Amino acid sequence: MTYYYKGFPQSDRDEKISMINVDELEERAKKVMPEGAYYYIASGAENEWTWRANTSAFNHYQIVPRALTDMQDPQTDTQFMGMKLKTPIMISPIACHGIAHKDAEVATQKGVAAAGALFSSSTYANKSVEDIAAVAPEAPRFFQLYLSKDWDFNKMVFDAIKKADYKGIFLTVDALVSGYREANLRTKFTYPVPLDFFTRYLGAKGEGQSVAQMYAASAQKIGPEDVARIKKESGLSVFVKGVMCAEDAYKAIGAGADGIYVTNHGGREIDGSPATIDVLPEIAKAVNHRVPIVFDSGVRRGSHVFKALALGADLVGIGRPYLYGLALGGPKGVESVIDQLNTELKIDMQLTGCKTIEDIKHAKISRIHYGLDAMPSNTDPSRMKPYPTTAENQIKSTNTDAVTGASQH
Ligand code: FNR
Ligand code: LAC
Repeated sequence: MTYYYKGFPQSDRDEKISMINVDELEERAKKVMPEGAYYYIASGAENEWTWRANTSAFNHYQIVPRALTDMQDPQTDTQFMGMKLKTPIMISPIACHGIAHKDAEVATQKGVAAAGALFSSSTYANKSVEDIAAVAPEAPRFFQLYLSKDWDFNKMVFDAIKKADYKGIFLTVDALVSGYREANLRTKFTYPVPLDFFTRYLGAKGEGQSVAQMYAASAQKIGPEDVARIKKESGLSVFVKGVMCAEDAYKAIGAGADGIYVTNHGGREIDGSPATIDVLPEIAKAVNHRVPIVFDSGVRRGSHVFKALALGADLVGIGRPYLYGLALGGPKGVESVIDQLNTELKIDMQLTGCKTIEDIKHAKISRIHYGLDAMPSNTDPSRMKPYPTTAENQIKSTNTDAVTGASQH
């Protein structure tokens, strides 16, 4: 079934998605979403080099299998800022979930709560923080803040998120202006569904506005003193989202940040910035366990989650894949995406003797430079062979003890 908001089609599904990997959802979502909305999600800035590098750069690091580990039944539960989570996989804040589903962030929160993961909602969300909290009152959630030039707006946001039991703030500092996103220019993308905080406070609904206009509504000038002011006025923990070098990790911690969020906005800002996995080790060294580290951009495999945890992250965010899951399956679709990555993560935990998430942080990771290292690796899911989908199992006999071994002929 499809629901329409002023002619804009939105999914109203709520069903599990069966998948081989999360990367295939990109193609599947393309078939069910309006073109402009799909490319708003799928695209990156300029030549999309960073968007690609974010995923292929995980091949720069290798997970070393371990033997004789005497371990089984790995556990993915973890703690973050005093919250108990069933998985270190969290969903990164994304604007306007209404482009994927009629229940927008409320549907996403439902699926994320079912998966026992940390949820985060964007300042540019369609649904109110009150509605989001109402669907999962006990669920752990963070709020992503686009600081406004207008501190009365900011205060209104702080009051609302505290009442909605948000546990902390991701202060986005890497998107002071929009990256040059050609897809949005070609499709003339504007937000098709009202954005709650803009409707509630600014009168302008956000609906019909471009990404560039939304960014212009937020502050372009953000400095260390803003971190302290947000902490003071909100009374919440503040993570700085958009740290891509050790210098800025020092600066953020010096400003009083409670955590560091390593991201390049999924390659949507500076095209040609490094892949996040390649800067994580230097940042983790600088942070030196003083505050927690959140990491995202390009994560499409359980092995990517494993590598990020082993290289210094405490939580690993996924972006685009869960929005595709939302479009394809609603709340249960989002949950399916998180479940898939957990399934893959547990395989790597079993094969490295990592019983817990803490064990992964001490796992052996090598950094062997392979010849094709500088090229998009051929292990990218998008480069994998087009394997056939076999309608039925090729073993004809229903007798599972079918004869095996060398043929007599
Ligand atoms: C984002 N991202 C983002 N970040 C943020 O701080 N506030 C926001 O409102 C949004 N909105 C947004 C919309 C869309 C469609 C995308 C794809 C991304 C960035 C997001 O939090 C995260 O950093 C990236 O999405 C992670 O990269 P992957 O997993 O999408 O490759
Ligand atoms: C984006 C903004 C909303 O990346 O952060 O589209």
